[in-house]
Amino acid sequence: MMISPALPAELKAALDAKLQGFSRTDAAQRSSRISNTYRTGGGSGTIKSDADALAYALARMPATYAAVAASLNALTEIAPGFAPETLLDVGAGPGTASWAAAEAFSSLQDFTLLDANATLSRLALELARDSSRLAECRYLPGDAGANLAEVSQSDLVVASYVIGELSEGDQRKLAETMWTKARHALVVIEPGTPAGYARILALRQQLIAAGAYVAAPCPHEKPCPLSAPDWCHFSQRLPRSQAHRQIKGAEVPFEDERFIYVALTRSPPATRAARVLAPPDASKAEITAKLCTEDGVAITKVPRRDKVAYADARRWRWGATAN
Ligand SMILES: C[S@@+](CC[C@H](N)C(=O)[O-])C[C@H]1O[C@@H](n2cnc3c(N)ncnc32)[C@H](O)[C@@H]1O
Repeated sequence: MMISPALPAELKAALDAKLQGFSRTDAAQRSSRISNTYRTGGGSGTIKSDADALAYALARMPATYAAVAASLNALTEIAPGFAPETLLDVGAGPGTASWAAAEAFSSLQDFTLLDANATLSRLALELARDSSRLAECRYLPGDAGANLAEVSQSDLVVASYVIGELSEGDQRKLAETMWTKARHALVVIEPGTPAGYARILALRQQLIAAGAYVAAPCPHEKPCPLSAPDWCHFSQRLPRSQAHRQIKGAEVPFEDERFIYVALTRSPPATRAARVLAPPDASKAEITAKLCTEDGVAITKVPRRDKVAYADARRWRWGATAN
């Protein structure tokens, strides 16, 4: 099912309940310290207390949720019959990807979350208690790579905003293990930066060599046709709550999360559709769009006089398929 980028009501209520009595100033300070660590290449290791975990979830969970939701929607569009029953959420943190997957796939019954951060895991379990779907989830503490080796395969494996915390060697090892554990599909999501794109590209190449097919975003398994300084990424708009505006000092009631992802499957996708790589440009005479096609990147121009094609092209959005 195509899902909304906004947090589901149960998760929003669970987070709001935790925020009762939690100082916005304190949350703002903690979340800015955590984001500074991320910007300077550090990981989630600075999340040490329950207050840090909550500040992180308040600041980042809505945006990473929106990015996972968009990525799962892209997979669902290409593989509409996919109905996973089991999920592995690798580097689950507060459980973001599990919540999104529960929304996207009503077929999911069994959720296993893996994370090394005990504080975030505790928060994930507390939030999950308020979910009609995740209340029975399993949480495996410690190194995800080591724990994955011990679990059985799952229909779907998701790793959201995780591999950037690992060394290149560990990324390769984790990619291989995650693929081994994915019975049908693996979805990996990263920030939409050149570095995040480079990590997704490396994982994509590695797993295509291991037999994976690309369901989305690429309509092919060929090498990525983009070359530096260009990089593939998308942007998801999501609502910004009042609490979020307060802790981020932001004015507008939305935020735009830039992200990149790859959805890999064991069987070849039944359909291939060109993907819109940037916001299309509409002039009086024509619509110009940058598309990733099976034959490479194309700058496609659709003249207004070509009425049917023009009407279709008016619906093209950055990140969507160009159908
Ligand atoms: C940026 S957070 C993302 C959390 C969540 N997936 C999300 O999208 O909101 C990265 C998470 O990966 C976890 N992590 C990083 N390396 C790990 C490893 N080797 N084993 C298990 N968890 C790891 C961290 O503890 C942290 O919770």
